[in-house]
Amino acid sequence: MKKKMLYVAAAAVVLSGCSGSKDYTPAAGASGKDIFAQACIGCHPSISETELTTFWEISADNATTAYVTDKITQGSLRMPSFPNIKGAELEAIAAFVLKHNKSK
Ligand code: HEC
Repeated sequence: MKKKMLYVAAAAVVLSGCSGSKDYTPAAGASGKDIFAQACIGCHPSISETELTTFWEISADNATTAYVTDKITQGSLRMPSFPNIKGAELEAIAAFVLKHNKSK
């Protein structure tokens, strides 16, 4: 239920013309935590009320750096793409995602 509401909220943001992601460029050397706070937290709040550091529920099969970096650079139907997150910053945010993932 909570997850469904997140999607509805995210869809509303997309439909209302939130276009920041394509232009978002992290500062050189930005940490995964910084990037998360600047570009992701609005759509990926904590999914657990007890663990306030759990932001993703990526299935065990998909919990790989390659899957996460593809998702960030390419996006998907409801997830915007972030083509300007690259190199060391892309690695940093991917590591942050995997560290704060709770595989189903
Ligand atoms: C405008 C809202 C929005 C923003 C901003 C956003 N995401 Fe997402 N993201 C979504 C939605 C919605 C999904 C799930 C649906 C889908 O995959 O299309 C998703 C899915 C994902 C997934 C895959 C999860 C899975 O279970 O497979 C990853 C990883 C992810 N996002 C990482 C990020 C990162 C990292 C950022 C910041 C750089 C970010 N997202 C910013 C909306 C957003």
